Amino acid sequence: MTPAGPRLAGRRVLLIVSGGIAAYKALELIRLLKREGAGVRCVLTAGGAEFVTPLSLQALSEEKVHTELFSLTDESEMGHIQLSRSADLVVVAPASADILARMAAGLAGDLATTLLLATDKPVLVAPAMNVRMWTHAATLANMATLKARGVAVVEPEEGAMACGEWGPGRLAEPPAILARIEAMLNHAARPLAGRPVLVTSGPTHEPIDPVRYIANRSSGRQGHAIAAALAELGARVTLVSGPVSIPDPPLVRVVHIETAEQMLAACRAALPVEAAVCVAAVADWRVEAPSAAKIKKTGGGETPSLVLAANPDILATLSADGPGRPRLVVGFAAETDDLIAHATEKRRRKGCDWLVANDVSAAGGAMGGEENEVHLITAEGSEDWPRMAKVAVAERLAARIAEALA
Ligand SMILES: Cc1cc2nc3c(=O)[nH]c(=O)nc-3n(C[C@H](O)[C@H](O)[C@H](O)COP(=O)(O)O)c2cc1C
Repeated sequence: MTPAGPRLAGRRVLLIVSGGIAAYKALELIRLLKREGAGVRCVLTAGGAEFVTPLSLQALSEEKVHTELFSLTDESEMGHIQLSRSADLVVVAPASADILARMAAGLAGDLATTLLLATDKPVLVAPAMNVRMWTHAATLANMATLKARGVAVVEPEEGAMACGEWGPGRLAEPPAILARIEAMLNHAARPLAGRPVLVTSGPTHEPIDPVRYIANRSSGRQGHAIAAALAELGARVTLVSGPVSIPDPPLVRVVHIETAEQMLAACRAALPVEAAVCVAAVADWRVEAPSAAKIKKTGGGETPSLVLAANPDILATLSADGPGRPRLVVGFAAETDDLIAHATEKRRRKGCDWLVANDVSAAGGAMGGEENEVHLITAEGSEDWPRMAKVAVAERLAARIAEALA
């Protein structure tokens, strides 16, 4: 049901307009934001000012437009740090390749980038550029960096461009940007708003030598979906992910690791958190002494033997009593037989509060697939959840976590 009245009444947006043909669409975005009752304060980059005038932005936003970092009057009226924190959300639309690169590098050479570096508010970028610029390795790397830091992105659309080429890179339409702004601003009213939560996801890779490793079939889909669902409820999520081929979820800080030992270190660094959800399929063993050089196949046909050593138990470590223990620790148990009995015993042994057990036998098919059939084991007993999409499992579990932390 759509709430009556303007949906963004009382909310404030700091809109940074950077240089590109699509800057004219920022005018429409301001109009839509104002119609929904939001306050809009605009910052125009030097590049942006080549495409739209401060006067247009000012007329539509009904507020002074800021362009200069070293402006005495602006600093006396409102300092740049205060400006960076004066809004509930910072939006860069359109975001040029240049400003995205400067954000990724942490530069602060003009007003816009100084504000972006100084802000303590969520940031949303809406990139717009020529398809070659958008698909250039430099831009892709910059976007990956920004997403890993929790910057939200309204992906550009595919279509004909002002330069006559075709492809992805066109600024998302203002209504789509508005929808994303609304989702992000309403975030603050959600049950886990601002609560720190840790999620682990994916497999670990344990090196044998520089080119070989021990891995497993975990895709990261379930863990990533849980991180996204918790973020949707407003949680400040740190996702520690092993190597996966799926994209980082939006609104989540992602730490990429390879081995179990690196995963434990990243989890410890993320503490304190209120809840930890250990979904990663952490390798139980690593090669005790990985070879520094590639192990060669010998002419004699001898096969090398691998001596394994036990990996740290991340779930048990996070579950151990102590002043820093999360209030709620949730583990996942991938089992192929006697699911409930094994999972119930595992919950006690690891010391976690809840254990989500899933059937990863060939018939169960949870590992790597899109669906999952799980059982939630708590101190009170076990609940059987019907088979559903991993995203639905994630939403249901995130809702239960929000209830438990209420
Ligand atoms: C006609 C014209 C159109 C441009 N369009 C874009 C664009 O759509 N996206 C982009 O990233 N850069 C575009 N550029 C390049 C940027 O304007 C340039 O990188 C500028 O330095 C960006 O400044 P800013 O980051 O301060 O906004 C365009 C340049 C010109 C001359």
